[in-house]
Amino acid sequence: MTLRTVKTHDEMGRVAASIFESEIRNKPDIVLGLATGSSPIPLYKELARLHKEENLDFSKVKTINLDEYVGLPPEHPQSYRSFMNVNLFREINIDPINTHLPNGTAADLKKECRLYDELIEKLGGIDVQLLGIGYNGHIGFNEPDDLFSNQTHVVPLACETIEANSRFFADASEVPKEAISLDVRHIMQARKIVLVANASKREILNKALCGDITPKIPASVLQLHRDLTVIFSEGE
Ligand code: GLP
Repeated sequence: MTLRTVKTHDEMGRVAASIFESEIRNKPDIVLGLATGSSPIPLYKELARLHKEENLDFSKVKTINLDEYVGLPPEHPQSYRSFMNVNLFREINIDPINTHLPNGTAADLKKECRLYDELIEKLGGIDVQLLGIGYNGHIGFNEPDDLFSNQTHVVPLACETIEANSRFFADASEVPKEAISLDVRHIMQARKIVLVANASKREILNKALCGDITPKIPASVLQLHRDLTVIFSEGE
């Protein structure tokens, strides 16, 4: 594991973006695993700048997002599809057809999960996976559990996740209670993983990276990954 400690959220974004930039320049048709939440925002801003000012080309890049809320249509302002459109996809020259998130309004959610797994296999797996971490150690929406998940699945969200994410909704009752999440197996199969976290995550990050490996702290499995870079911002 490589740990990079930086002073600010913006610096965290720049350090993460430089990793993504070299990976994209080396492999223009790269498959990126992308994440939502506040932690990746400075990275996405920097990738947009690199596209506009330094010709970073996304025309062949493909993306697979970690998760989506069940029940929110793509055009809902709090859907993760909207988040990605606003914070990244509209700012770069990616072909929308190459951007993938689970459909949280699919009539058959189980089938939607299987189709998502098939899509990842068809794309040849994820080259570089971006992660944030939840206060309970979740990655994507893989909540603390008895087992590590091994396929894309519908997850009931933990109470603390609903509370943490209620800041984006009018109140907690509006936060969807379920999500579709990419599983731990596919995350771990990514060739490279970059995790970004700010000072508010110091305690859980410490437990995840230095404590026991347990599905009760899903991010702890990352200790077993052969190419993990953690970028930690001392500022919030
Ligand atoms: C959500 C996402 C996670 C993300 C987490 C932390 O729950 N599903 O992928 O890591 O939020 O978000 P933040 O970076 O805003 O703390």
